[in-house]
Amino acid sequence: MTTLATKRDFLTLDDLTPEEILETLALARRMKAGELRDTPLVGKTLIMIFRKHSTRTRVSFEIAMNQLGGDAVFLADRDSQMGRGESLEDTARVLSGYGDGLMVRTWGHGELQIFAEHAEIPVINGLTDLVHPCQILTDLLTMTEIFGELQGRTVAWVGDGNNVANSWLRAARMMDFRLRVACPEGYAPDEAVSAWASETGHAEFIADPAEAVEGVDVVVTDTWVSMGQEVEHAIREAAFTPYRVTSELMARASDDAVFMHCLPAHRGHEVDAEVIDGPRSVVIQEAHNRLHAQKALLVRLLA
Ligand code: CP
Ligand code: NVA
Repeated sequence: MTTLATKRDFLTLDDLTPEEILETLALARRMKAGELRDTPLVGKTLIMIFRKHSTRTRVSFEIAMNQLGGDAVFLADRDSQMGRGESLEDTARVLSGYGDGLMVRTWGHGELQIFAEHAEIPVINGLTDLVHPCQILTDLLTMTEIFGELQGRTVAWVGDGNNVANSWLRAARMMDFRLRVACPEGYAPDEAVSAWASETGHAEFIADPAEAVEGVDVVVTDTWVSMGQEVEHAIREAAFTPYRVTSELMARASDDAVFMHCLPAHRGHEVDAEVIDGPRSVVIQEAHNRLHAQKALLVRLLA
C-alpha cells in the first residue's frame, strides 16, 4: 500500500538517481527483448490526466499498464469537472482513493506540483511546459540501444530551448554526456538547469547550429511551436528557420550519428523530410521505446 510518506513521484528526471535510471533502462531492455513477461501490476490502476493533446504518451502508458496486468483510466479537461473549475487539490485527493498512480500532462509545472503535493499515490509527469522526463528516459533507452554507454557521448540540441531541451540538459549532467545547445536568441532553455548543467562542463551553448553539430553522435530537435504557443507561430517560424535540421547540417555530425525527435514532427520546418525519413533517423524506434521505458518506470513506482 502506498502512503504519503513512501510514495515516489517522477516529476523531473532527477526524481531518480543516475543508478536508478540505468537500472530502469536495463529493465526496459529486458522487457523489450521479451525476457520478462510478468504482470506485477495486476489489480493496479493508473489514472491519466491529459490537459493537453497526446498520441504517444497516452497510448504507450495505457498499453504499458495493460501489459503489466493493470488498467489505465483516461481523464481530459473537457469531460471532467476540472474543465469546469474543480480544484486540482480536490481532484488529486479524490482520485487517490480510486487508483494507484496518477499520470499528469498539464501546462505549468506548478500545476503538476499541486497534484503531487495533494495526491496520496505516485504522480508521473507526462509533460509540462517546463520538462518532459518520460520522453528523456525513452531517449536515453534509445541511445543505449544504439551506442551502449551514454557516458562520453555528445548530443546536439538544435532549435527551441523548450521542455524537452530542459530534460536533455538534466540528463546530460546526470548521465555524464555532453550536450551542445544551439538556440536562437530569446529561445534559450531554462536558466537554472542550463547553469546547473554548464557548471560541470556537460552543457555548452553554441549559437551557430553548424558549429554545434560538428562531430556529434546525436542531433536532436523538436517542434518550433509547442502546445500553447500557437499564437506565436509566425514569429517563431522566422526566428527558427536557420535552425532547421537539413541533410547539410547532418553531414557535419559524426559518420554514424543518428537523428532524434520526440514527435510530433513538422517536415520542412524543424527538420527536412529527407532527414527524418532518411537512414540516420531513429524517431520510430524512439517513439516505440516510450512503451518499454514507461513499463520499467511503472514497475519501479507502482509495483
Ligand atoms: N512525444 C510525445 O510526448 O508525444 P505525444 O504528445 O503524442 O504524447
Ligand atoms: N515541446 C513539445 C513536445 C510535444 C511532445 C510540446 O510541449 O508541445
